[in-house]
Amino acid sequence: MSYLQIVGKQKIEGKIKIHGAKNAVLPIMAATLLTPESCILHSVPSTLEDVLMMKRILEAVGAHIQHEQDDMSIDLSTISNCEAPYELVSKMRASFVILGPMLARVGQAKIPMPGGCAIGTRPVDLHLKGMQALGAEISLSNGYVNAKAAKLRGNHIYLDYPSVGATQNIMMAATLAEGSTVIENAAAEPEISDLATFLNSCGAHIHGAGTNMIRVEGVQQLHGCQHEVIPDRIEAGTFLIAAAITGGDVFVEGAVSNHMKPLLAKLWELGCTLQDQREGIRIQGPMKLLSTNVTTLPHPGFPTDMQAQMMALLTLASGNSMITETVFENRFQHSEELIRMGAKIRIDGRTAFVQGVTQLTGAQVQATNLRAGAALVLAGMAAEGETRVHEIYHIDRGYVKLEEKLCGIGARIIRVEA
Ligand code: EPZ
Repeated sequence: MSYLQIVGKQKIEGKIKIHGAKNAVLPIMAATLLTPESCILHSVPSTLEDVLMMKRILEAVGAHIQHEQDDMSIDLSTISNCEAPYELVSKMRASFVILGPMLARVGQAKIPMPGGCAIGTRPVDLHLKGMQALGAEISLSNGYVNAKAAKLRGNHIYLDYPSVGATQNIMMAATLAEGSTVIENAAAEPEISDLATFLNSCGAHIHGAGTNMIRVEGVQQLHGCQHEVIPDRIEAGTFLIAAAITGGDVFVEGAVSNHMKPLLAKLWELGCTLQDQREGIRIQGPMKLLSTNVTTLPHPGFPTDMQAQMMALLTLASGNSMITETVFENRFQHSEELIRMGAKIRIDGRTAFVQGVTQLTGAQVQATNLRAGAALVLAGMAAEGETRVHEIYHIDRGYVKLEEKLCGIGARIIRVEA
């Protein structure tokens, strides 16, 4: 299996450009099921494994998809079947958001129940409750969700938890429902707003996306559109922490500060200097990294997808820090790997107590999920000596050319195909 070999303690400086957001483009690709007309997407990170997986799933139900660089055209004029293939959906939980659009477009859907994954059981009860509230009949058999609805009808839906995926599934289904739908306690992530922007460009009537109260007025049909996917705030945040952890000076081109306020606030607290410029954000790492406490929350709180990267940074802070993970029940696996590099971390339930050390040392470590893998690369860049990060297929799911981009600003990372 290939691995990334990192020589640490390299000063990084220069400009690094981010790609379109993985967590925005995946639901938007699913949303193209809602219209028989072609859609053109720009700034698509089309080499990401997860994007290629979603492409395969849509092609399996009848899509004709072409992509050239970061532009992708999706034509779903006819849907050949309403069943998403198990061998694909089971590999990528995010594909469960084809349920809502498929149901709204053809009146039925047969989607494999997504498995849990390394970070938690990740149920879909809120997705199914939302579909039922819109009038769908839902049954579970042989590991599949079977959904049927001759016509969806708008409703007032209160989400027990502001689930990103459930909000996306319900919002998409509601665009073609009869009457209006209100989603209360909705997720407010920037990716939800981007999905709503795409859907409104297709003729949907969605108001309030980006807040916890979303209203959708159903329409008869949606038409095609062109859409530019928003930049990836998690990729941007990962690069900001790369500069912070190595004491570097980096301009992250494309970073949108309005999407990243909780992270930027924490980086200031840690002693970094940030400049919010028109085309991106410049960050200068601190001479001395201060400690802080972090609690992950649904947007606009600190994003859980930045928790692992922040933990890597705090292992080198001068003082003790506390990280509380409230979104997923098992998202601290990276702590054991960081401990192998000399970090001092104690986990107690949903809280990690991090005692800052003066130095990490290179070691063989392995990625357990996408963000944990990125965190280990960052730790390797700051550590004394050589680090090898294994199981890097996790990283390839969500980062376009991570090592190439980081080497472009002075990191010493090579991909060893073993
Ligand atoms: C999205 O996952 C993201 N994935 C995740 O990013 C991200 O961590 C997460 O939102 C939270 O921000 C994509 O957008 C493709 P949720 P999603 O539904 O939609 C519970 C990454 O690294 N829940 O908001 O699956 C669930 O168990 C990935 O890019 C229910 O209980 O997240 C979890 O504890 C990782 N019932 C919490 O809500 C449900 O029906 C948040 O899940 C649905 C969710």
